[in-house]
Order: sequence, then structure tokens, then C-alpha cells
Amino acid sequence: MIVLGIETSCDDTCAAIYDGRALLSSVISTQLIHQRFGGVVPELASRSHVQLVLPVVRQALNQAGLERKELQGIAVTFGPGLAGSLLVGLSMAKGMALSLRIPIVGINHLEGHIWANTLSDPDLASRFIVLIASGGHTQIVFVREWGDYEVLGRTRDDAAGEAFDKVGKLLEVGYPGGPAIEKLAREGDSEYTRFPRAFLEEGSLDFSFSGLKTAVLNHVQTIGSEQTRKHFSDIAASFQRAVIDVLVEKTVTAAKRMGIHRICMAGGVAVNKALQEHMTRRGREEGMAISWPIPELCTDNGGMIARAGFYYLQQGITSPLSLSPAPSLNL
Ligand code: KG4
Ligand code: ZN
Repeated sequence: MIVLGIETSCDDTCAAIYDGRALLSSVISTQLIHQRFGGVVPELASRSHVQLVLPVVRQALNQAGLERKELQGIAVTFGPGLAGSLLVGLSMAKGMALSLRIPIVGINHLEGHIWANTLSDPDLASRFIVLIASGGHTQIVFVREWGDYEVLGRTRDDAAGEAFDKVGKLLEVGYPGGPAIEKLAREGDSEYTRFPRAFLEEGSLDFSFSGLKTAVLNHVQTIGSEQTRKHFSDIAASFQRAVIDVLVEKTVTAAKRMGIHRICMAGGVAVNKALQEHMTRRGREEGMAISWPIPELCTDNGGMIARAGFYYLQQGITSPLSLSPAPSLNL
């Protein structure tokens, strides 16, 4: 079965084609218009999706060497995300499904992130713990079976990627902050200062990153602009270390608690090499296997949606054409 995946939940317009064995194509158009605002502007995002979605789908077909009539199903993100942005992808998917007389299936964006792991590792079996850490979400999920997910912990305020973006804004390194802070942190001393790690109540697998962001702000205000400039990379490294310590410890604790020896990662923050190294080191100490998708499959992409959609469509599970955006959809 040849499935087209469409993803427009935030600021990336994405389309990809999956045939049950591999991704035949994947096109990601990142909307650069948001950079100058230091964050995603919802209205601009949906307008850009309108302009980009058709060329992006066309390019995905071209890259795969397919004509649209060869498609057999369409998977589309219907939540969570920005309502206007989701609507563009959904409208595109419905229009194509109607004209091609093929089924559609709505996919939860977070489930898509989890499935991305199977594109990098096709033999990945269910029963694993996955840390989803992106700009909009931070969750620890137990994948009991495909389609059967238990959220063990989630952020109570900012997402991990959001913390990177906000501290990036504070340090004026541009948007998104994550890649820039990682680069800076490589030259810095992560022991320079100890920012707070919010572990919350004993045993809690939830996260809280808003205090950390405030601690960085207070630190910068206390030492002043000259010292901040001097210790730019040290501040970035110390901040990054605080985020990573909490992400890793909570994920490993979740795996131990569930008696699981396999941890996967997903979402834009999973691209971070320091996180990958730290998680691998801690996992090894606990006898756990750790893996994550290649960078283009960690951040938002259409491949993960096509892959998840393939799973459902193959079982005859489809969505009605009345499917509408679900901005606050949970797993
Ligand atoms: O998964 P994603 O592309 O979009 C969402 O669903 O949110 O994740 C984007 C987030 C941004 O907050 C960005 O700063 C963060 O992932 N990110 C990183 C890195 N690359 C992207 N955070 C830390 N280190 C990175 N290398
Ligand atoms: Zn995402």
C-alpha cells in the first residue's frame, strides 16, 4: 500500500510517501518567516501552509517517481497543533482523497513522533519507553502495543524545546534556540553554574521547565551584560545540562518502574547530541538499549505520519471526511 503523509501542525509544511518498506520521499519546508519574531506566529503559519502545501505534495510525488493516482491512502495530522495550520493539511488530504477515491486516516502528531523510531529501526518491537521532547511537547510514554500508549509523565508548563527557544531568545542566539544553544554549549563549561533541576514531588515523572528559564534570566541580570557575554557558552552549557539531567533521569526512572529495557526518543530536542550521549551513558549503566531516529525524522516530518497511517490503513482503519482539527488532542 502506498501512503502519502501530510503534516502541517506547526511551522513545517511536510509531505512524504511510505510504501510499507521504506520512505520513498520526504519533503520538509520550514517556514523561515517566523525567525524574525522569535517564535511561531499562528496566522502567518497557516497562510504559509496554504502557499506551500500543494508544491510540497507535488515534490514528494516527484521525488518518489509516482503519479498521484498511484497513491492508495492518505495519512494526515489532525492534532495536536495550531487549528488554522492543521486545517490546511486536512483540507488538502480530504480534497485529494475525494478526487482520487482513496481513504484518509487522521494521525495524532505525537503518535507520529513515536512511529518515526521505526523508520530508523524497522525491527523495533513494541513495549518500550519513549521520551517525546519537542517545541510543543515533553512526555514520557509507555508503548505497550502499537496504538496502546500510556502517558507516564508530561510537562506542567513549558516543553523542553520551548525552554531552549526561550533561553535562546534571552541569549539572542536566534530562533529556534535549540540548535544554536547546543552549538554554543559545546564550547562551554556545563559546571560553570548549577541551574535548578525541577524533579517535582518524589516519584513524579512530570516535568517543569519554566523555573529553569527564570533562573537563567535571573542569573544573566545578576552578573550583568559584560559577564554574560564573557560566559555566554558556559551559561548555554549549564542550562542545557540542567534540561538534560531531568529528561534523562525521569526517562530512565520510568523505564525501571515499568521493567522495560528499551528507551527511544523523538521530537526536535532528541537531535541534541549531548542528550543522546547522556541518555546512552545512563541507559548503559542500567542495562538498557537507547535509540533515536535520524535528525530529519526527529523534527517534524511527513514520513512519521505516513508510517503511522500505513499501520492503520492496512488494517482498514480510516477516518470520515468530516474529520476536523483537534488542537488539544492527547495521546
Ligand atoms: O519536533 P519539532 O520539530 O517540532 C515540534 O513538534 O515542536 O521540535 C522543534 C523543537 C524546537 O523547540 C527546537 O529548539 C528544538 O526542537 N530543537 C533542539 C535541537 N534541535 C531542535 N533542542 C535542543 N537541541 C537541538 N539540537
Ligand atoms: Zn512535533
